[in-house]
Amino acid sequence: MSQTLVDSYGRRIRKLRVSLTDQCNLRCHYCMPVDATFLNQSTYLSCQEYGEIVGELIEFGLEEVRLTGGEPLLRSNFAEIARAIGQLKLKKIGLTTNGIVLDRHLDTLRENNILDLNVSLDSLNVKTFREITHGNYLKIILRNLELAHHQGFKIKLNTVVMRGINDQEIFDLIEYAKQWDMEIRFLEIMRIGYACQQQERTFISAQELLTKIQQKYNLKPIQSALDATAFRYSTSCGGVIGFIASESQPFCGHCSRWRLSVDGTLRACLLKNEGVNIRNFSPLERQQVYWQLLGMKPYLRPPEVSHAMHQIGG
Ligand code: GTP
Ligand code: 5AD
Ligand code: SF4
Repeated sequence: MSQTLVDSYGRRIRKLRVSLTDQCNLRCHYCMPVDATFLNQSTYLSCQEYGEIVGELIEFGLEEVRLTGGEPLLRSNFAEIARAIGQLKLKKIGLTTNGIVLDRHLDTLRENNILDLNVSLDSLNVKTFREITHGNYLKIILRNLELAHHQGFKIKLNTVVMRGINDQEIFDLIEYAKQWDMEIRFLEIMRIGYACQQQERTFISAQELLTKIQQKYNLKPIQSALDATAFRYSTSCGGVIGFIASESQPFCGHCSRWRLSVDGTLRACLLKNEGVNIRNFSPLERQQVYWQLLGMKPYLRPPEVSHAMHQIGG
C-alpha cells in the first residue's frame, strides 16, 4: 500500500460514499422538491472512472464504500458499476437506498457482495408516508424490505424524525424493525438544502428521543467504531436502536469519509460545498487532489448549507 490518507487531526480516510445519480423516485420533501431538476447524464462519471478512482483510493487506505444517490438503483448501468466496484479489494460495500426498486437488484447486490443495506423509512402510515414523500410507495418498500431480509441481507432502517410529522411513530418503527431483525436508526434532521426551511420547526434531538424510549425500554449501549455515524443501544425488547445526532452531537472530529458525487466532484465533507471535480483528470492529477483534499475536511461542524443532499450524494 502507498502512504495512507491521514489529515493533521489524525483522521484517516477509510470510507468513501459514492453517488451514482442525483435522481430520485421518492422525493422526500426535506430533500428535494417535486419539480427538482437533475444533472444532464452526460456529466455522470462512467463505470470505468468509478473503478479507477475507487481502485486508486484503496491504494491510499480506503476500506469501505457506500453507494448512494439520489437513489443509486436508478442508475441505468447499476449492475455494471456494482461489478466494477465489487471486484475491488474492499472490506465492505454498502448501499443506501429508498427501497422502491430493490427487488429487481437483489441478485446483482448479492453477486457483488453488497450485503449491507441502509433503507430510508420515515413512516409506517400510508398517509404520513405520502405526505413526506409525494409518493404512494410504502407497501412496495415494505414488501422489498421483507424480501431482502428473507434473502439474508443486513438491513438498517433510517428514519428522519420530525416533530408533528412522524414523531408519534417511533415505537411502531422500533417494533417493526425488531420483528424483521433490522436495526433502526433515528436521524436528526440536518440543516442542509431544502430541509433548512423546516428544520427549526420540526427538529427533535436524539437526546429527547432517547429519554422517551428509555421510559419504555431498558437500553444498553453497544460499542461502535470511533468513526461510526450512529451511537447504538440494544433494547430490552430485543432490537437494536441507533441515533444519528449530526446536529446536536456532530461527529466531525472522528469523520473518516469522503464523498464522490455523480459529476465527479470529490468532497471532504457532506456539509461543505467546496470540492474538486476530478472527472477527466489523469491518475497523477487525481493523486495531487487526494493530498489537497486532506486539508479540506473541517474539524468543527459547518453551519447550515444550501446545497441539496441528493445533488452531492446523501
Ligand atoms: P454506515 O455507518 O456504513 O451504516 O453508513 P452511514 O450511517 O454513514 O450511512 P447512511 O447513508 O445510512 O447515512 C445515514 C445518515 O448519516 C445520513 O442521513 C446523515 O444524517 C448521516 N451522515 C452520513 N454521512 C455523513 C457525513 O459525512 N456527515 C454528516 N454530518 N452526516 C452524515
Ligand atoms: N437530514 C437528515 N437526514 C437526511 N436524509 C436526507 N436529507 C436529510 C436531512 N436533511 C437522509 C435520508 C436517507 C439518508 C441517506 O439521508 O432520509 O435515509
Ligand atoms: Fe430520495 Fe433519499 Fe432524498 Fe428521500 S432522502 S428524496 S430517498 S435521495
